[in-house]
This record gives sequence, structure tokens and C-alpha cells, in this order.
Amino acid sequence: MGNKIVTIGFFSLNLFITFALGEYYSKTRPSTPKQEMVTNLHFFFHDTLTASNPSAVLIAKPTLTGRDNNSSPTPFGSLLAIDDPLTVGPDPNSEKIGNARGMYVSSGQHVPTLTMYVDFGFTSGEFNGTSISVFSRNPITEKKRELAVVGGRGRFRMARGVALLNTYFVNLTNGNAIVEYNVTLYHY
Ligand SMILES: *[C@@H]1O[C@H](CO)[C@@H](O)[C@H](O)[C@H]1NC(C)=O
Ligand SMILES: *[C@@H]1O[C@H](CO)[C@@H](O)[C@H](O)[C@H]1NC(C)=O
Ligand SMILES: *[C@@H]1O[C@H](CO)[C@@H](O)[C@H](O)[C@H]1NC(C)=O
Ligand SMILES: *[C@@H]1O[C@H](CO)[C@@H](O)[C@H](O)[C@H]1NC(C)=O
Repeated sequence: MGNKIVTIGFFSLNLFITFALGEYYSKTRPSTPKQEMVTNLHFFFHDTLTASNPSAVLIAKPTLTGRDNNSSPTPFGSLLAIDDPLTVGPDPNSEKIGNARGMYVSSGQHVPTLTMYVDFGFTSGEFNGTSISVFSRNPITEKKRELAVVGGRGRFRMARGVALLNTYFVNLTNGNAIVEYNVTLYHY
């Protein structure tokens, strides 16, 4: 009995210490170090602007683009929403393993560049239900380029890493593209 009271007292005291009255933060403490893991992912991203059901759609574009009078499908200032399929091979009909959902904005005034705010989610295999967050510029005129992976969900919680991109196919007239992704992720 006495023991119970002591235990309860101890827990309440603990709660009291963790969330001291009137504070919105806990005491900062060292975290327990865990073994860092590394996982590589390899897939193809299909960005289709034209089709009866495009996977990338224009949300907004500026009206004052007189100086940007080129024939780019995504002139400076264009903002697109995407729900792009990810497949194991370059063929759009190869096995679908996930989707890339988010937005990109055409953010280069003189050199075509996209800035991507995209969550890449996986829907099959060991990483079904997980996703990784990409927030990075994407200098699309360079055939090989690198994007920053800044986080993740599920097994990829707290992930960070890098995605190496290689343009497999691009149609400069309509902007449709197939891009190879080779991602290296550090996570726990
Ligand atoms: C834009 O391009 C069109 C067609 O090429 C041309 O006729 C027009 O003069 C250009 N406008 C500007 C502001 O450069
Ligand atoms: C992926 O997970 C979802 C939700 O748990 C499940 O419905 C689906 O069957 C899984 N797909 C594969 C291919 O494992
Ligand atoms: C590129 O897009 C244009 C315009 O939609 C189309 O006419 C042309 O056939 C496409 N080329 C390739 C190789 O897909
Ligand atoms: C992915 O990138 C790593 C590191 O640069 C490289 O060793 C590997 O060969 C690449 N894999 C593919 C399939 O391109």
C-alpha cells in the first residue's frame, strides 16, 4: 500500500518535472543514440503534363511574363500540383511502386529550374506506407543532378539523404518527362 502511494507519488512528481506547471516545453535531455541505417532506392518518376488525365496540372502562373517569351511549357512563376506515378522501370507500364505528391514551381528567371516540395510515397514491398520528403531546387537542364531529401515517414522517419537524378526522357515542347531517381537515405 505504502509502496503504491510512493510509486504514484513518484510518477506524478515525474510528470510534474517533465511538464512543469505553466510550461509548454519539456526539459531538454540527451537522446539515446541509435544505429544509423542506410537504404538505397531506385525508381522512375513519370511527370505527364499532357494527356486526358495529366499527372501534373498548372495551379497558377503570373500574368506579367512579357519578358519570358519563350515556348517553355513551364515559364518562370508557373506552379504545378503533381500526383506522379513511380515505377520500377522506365516503361510507364512497368510495376508501380508509389507516387510523388506535392508541388513544384518554375523558379529560374533565366535558366529553367524547378523548386520541388514533394512527398514521395511508396505503396508496395517492404516500404509500403512510408514516404520521403524532398525540398530542393532541381536544375532540369542538367542531365544529372542532385536533390536534397529532408525527412521521411514510417520506416524512413527522420531520414535525410540525397536523390541523384538522371533524365531518361523529356519532351521539351510539352514538358512530359521520365526521370530516373537513385536515392540514398540515412535513417534509423
Ligand atoms: C513574343 O514572341 C512572339 C512570337 O515569337 C513575337 O511575335 C513577339 O514579338 C514576342 N514578344 C516579346 C515581348 O518579345
Ligand atoms: C500496402 O499497404 C496497404 C495499407 O496497409 C495495403 O492495403 C496494401 O495491400 C499494401 N500493398 C502491398 C502491395 O503490399
Ligand atoms: C512532344 O510533344 C509534342 C506536343 O505535344 C508532340 O507533338 C510530339 O509528338 C511529342 N514528341 C515526343 C517524342 O513525344
Ligand atoms: C546510385 O548511386 C550510387 C552512388 O552514387 C551508385 O553507386 C549506384 O551505382 C547508383 N545506382 C544506379 C542504379 O544508378
